[in-house]
Amino acid sequence: MKDYLVKDNWKIIEDQYHIEFNQISESIFSIGNGHMGQRANFEESFTGKTLQGNYIGGVYYPDKTRVGWWKNGYPEYFAKVLNACDWIGIRILLDQEEVDLHKAEIKKFYRELDMKRGVLTRKAEFITPKGRHLSIESQRFCSMADDEIGAIEYKVTSRNYNGGLALVSYLDFDVKNSDANYDEKFWEEDQQVASDEAMYVIAKTRKTNFQCAASMDHSLTINGGKSDHYFDYGNGEKYVEVFISGEIVTDGEWVYHKFVNISSSRNHNAESLLPDALTKSKAARSAGFELLLESHVDAWSKIWNTADIVIKDDVAAQQGIRFNIFQLYQTYTGKDSRLNIGPKGFTGEKYGGSTYWDTEAYCLPFYLSTTDASVARNLLIYRHNQLDRAIENAEKLGFSDGAALYPMVTMNGEECHNEWEITFEEIHRNGAIAYAIYDYIKYTGDQDYLVSHGVEVLVAIARFWSQRVNFSEAKQKYVMLGVTGPNEYENNVNNNWYTNYIATWCMDYAAESLAYIKKSHSADYSRIISLINFNESELEKWSDITAKMYFPVDKNKGIYLQQDGFLDKDIISVTDLPQSERPIHQKWSWDRILRSCFIKQADVLQGLYFFEDKFDLEDIRRNYEYYEPLTVHESSLSPCVHSILATKLNMKDKAYEMYLQTSRLDLDDYNNDTEDGCHITSMAGTWLAIVRGFAGMSVENDTLSFSPKLPKQWTEVSFKTNFRGQMIELVMSKDGNHLNNLSDSSIKVILNNKEFVVEPIGVTI
Ligand code: BGC
Repeated sequence: MKDYLVKDNWKIIEDQYHIEFNQISESIFSIGNGHMGQRANFEESFTGKTLQGNYIGGVYYPDKTRVGWWKNGYPEYFAKVLNACDWIGIRILLDQEEVDLHKAEIKKFYRELDMKRGVLTRKAEFITPKGRHLSIESQRFCSMADDEIGAIEYKVTSRNYNGGLALVSYLDFDVKNSDANYDEKFWEEDQQVASDEAMYVIAKTRKTNFQCAASMDHSLTINGGKSDHYFDYGNGEKYVEVFISGEIVTDGEWVYHKFVNISSSRNHNAESLLPDALTKSKAARSAGFELLLESHVDAWSKIWNTADIVIKDDVAAQQGIRFNIFQLYQTYTGKDSRLNIGPKGFTGEKYGGSTYWDTEAYCLPFYLSTTDASVARNLLIYRHNQLDRAIENAEKLGFSDGAALYPMVTMNGEECHNEWEITFEEIHRNGAIAYAIYDYIKYTGDQDYLVSHGVEVLVAIARFWSQRVNFSEAKQKYVMLGVTGPNEYENNVNNNWYTNYIATWCMDYAAESLAYIKKSHSADYSRIISLINFNESELEKWSDITAKMYFPVDKNKGIYLQQDGFLDKDIISVTDLPQSERPIHQKWSWDRILRSCFIKQADVLQGLYFFEDKFDLEDIRRNYEYYEPLTVHESSLSPCVHSILATKLNMKDKAYEMYLQTSRLDLDDYNNDTEDGCHITSMAGTWLAIVRGFAGMSVENDTLSFSPKLPKQWTEVSFKTNFRGQMIELVMSKDGNHLNNLSDSSIKVILNNKEFVVEPIGVTI
C-alpha cells in the first residue's frame, strides 16, 4: 500500500517528485475521453522508468499468441489495443544539453489531475547537470467535447539561464507495445509531412489495416509577445517534428501550444481521413487553448452533474469515488456501440484493452444510472452485434444449432484467450451477458429491447447451456462437468454452483422472454422464431433441465457448495495465512493454489448478489459467513460484491472495510500493480458498493427503491440517479434520508419498504 498522494475532494495531487512511483503515477494521472487516452507521461525526454502509452479505442492488432501446447479451439491471436501515436512529445534543448528530469536536480515538482475539469497539470523546477535553472509547466487534456482533439499548453521559464533554447515538438507513430509477444512493431507508415503548411503522420496497423491519422498545429508566444524564433522541420520513419529555436533570458518565458487531432478509419473514410484531420487541427489552433478547454470543461460538468457522488467530511472516500467515476467516463462514454470497457481502459496495456464479462456484471449498472439509457443500451448492442461470432465460437468447440458462447476476452467478437481452463471452461461469462439484458430491462422498462434484440441473444445462450449439461444416471440430475467458476483459483471443477445456477436462470429467462413476446408481440414472435430457427420443443428441453439441475449443497452447514468436493479441501481461514505469503498468486505455485481452499473472488457470493431476491437473508448470511473468511480478494472485482452483501446483512464494519479496498485500490496501489494500469472495470464495483450497497437501490415492480444504511464513518452521502427519464437525488445523512425529485413530474419511490410519491419539490422522510 502507498500513501504518497495528497487527499483532495476534486484533485489527485503528487506534490513531490516520487521517481520510485513514476509508473504508478503515469497510470493514475491518465487522461482520456472514450475515443482515446494516454498515460501521464512527461512531454519532454525522460530516461527514467516509464511506460509511454497512447491508445485509440477499438484500434487493435491480432498479436500471435504464445502457447506451449496447442489445443483445438484455441484462438490464433490475442487482440491488443495498440500503443499508438505519441503526440505529447516536446523536447527541450538548451545549448549542448537536452532537458531530462531523470538527470536534473529537482527543486520542486507538482502533478495534478483535476477531475472536475479533466485536466492534467505538471510543474517542475529543476537544475540541469550544466547548472541551467529552469521551470516548466504543462497542462493538457483529451477533449470531451470533441473526442479526436487533444491540446497541450507548455511553458518554459528560465530562472538563471541565458542562451539558446529549442523546442522539438513531434508526432511519433514509431512506437511498440510493451506487451508485444514477439517484440514486433505493429504500425506501418502510410504518409507523413512536416512543413509550414501541415504536420501529420498517417500510419496503418499491420493485418487489421486500421489507418490512423495524427495531425498537429501549434503556436508559440515568447515573453508575452512576439520575439525572434525559427522553425525547421524534420522527419523519420512514422515520425515528424518541428524544431523551434530562439533565445531565452533569465525570467523569460516561452508558452507553446500544441493542438492535435487523432482520428482513424474506424470513423472516417479513406478519402476524408487526412483532410478532416488537417482541418480539425487547424480549427483547434484557431479556436485556441482557452476556448477548447472551456468546451472540454463544460462537457465534463454535464457528466458530473448526473454522475457525481458527494461524500461529506471524508476526503479520502470522496477522492476515491470521484476518481472511479472519472476514470470510467474517460474510458467509455457510450457514444460508439463498437467500443467497450477494457479492464485497464487507456491507462496501460495488460488485458489488451479488450472486453470481459466485467462490463456486463459490473459496469452496466453504473452507466444505467448515471446517464441516459442509450449508453447502457449500446453496451448490450455491442454483444448483439457479436452474436454471430459467439455462435461460431461455440461451433469451434463442438456446439451446434445456434448455441452461442461469448468469448472470455474479445475485441471484435472472436475469442482471444487461450488457456484451456478459461477459454473453454470459464463459461459463466455467458450468464452475465444474459443477466445484463435482464438488468437493463428491469431498470429502464425498455421491453422493446427484448423484442428487437435481446431475445436472440438469450435464446442462443440458453441453447449453449442446454448442450453443455449432461444427464447423470447416477445422480438422476443434470450436471455440468469441467468448468471454472468466477474463482479462477480452481479449474476444471464439476458442478460449480454459480455456473449451474446462472445456467438454469438463463434458460428460464429465455423461456419467459419468448412467452412474453408470443403473448404480446405475436407478429414479432413469428419473425423471431423463423430468424433464429426456433423449435418450441427446445422449451421442453430447457424446462426439463432447469427442473432437474443438480446443485451441490451441504445441508449440515446450510450452504451452497462452490463445487463438488469443495469440503474435501483443507479448510483454513485467510487470517491464518501469513502476510508474507500473500498475494498467493505471486508467492505460491499454481498447483498449491488450485488445491487450496482460498477463493480469488466472489463465486457462490456472486450468485447470491445477482439473485439476492431469490434467497432469504439467513441463507445469504450462512454462505457469506462461510465463504468470506476463505476469500483472498486477489481480483479487484471481489471486495465490492462482499461490501454489498455485508451491507445487506447489517455487517456495517465489514461492508465499509470492503468498500475501502475497492474505492482507493489504485490511488493507494493496494495490490501493488497499478503501474500496469488502473483497474477500470472494478471501479464500477466501488460505485455499486455505494449505490446498490449502502443506498440499497433496486427496482421493485417498476418502482425505484432505496433502503439506505449510511456507514457510521460518514455524515452524509448523496447521488443522483436517472430512472426512466426522471432524475432522483438521494441524500443519506445521519439526520435521515432526503429524496429530491429533480424532474418535472411526480414519481413513486419506495424508501425502506414504504411507498412515497415524491413531488418535484422533494420530500424529507
Ligand atoms: C478476474 C476475472 C476478470 C479479469 C479482468 C481476472 O483477474 O478473475 O473475473 O474478468 O480479471 O478484469
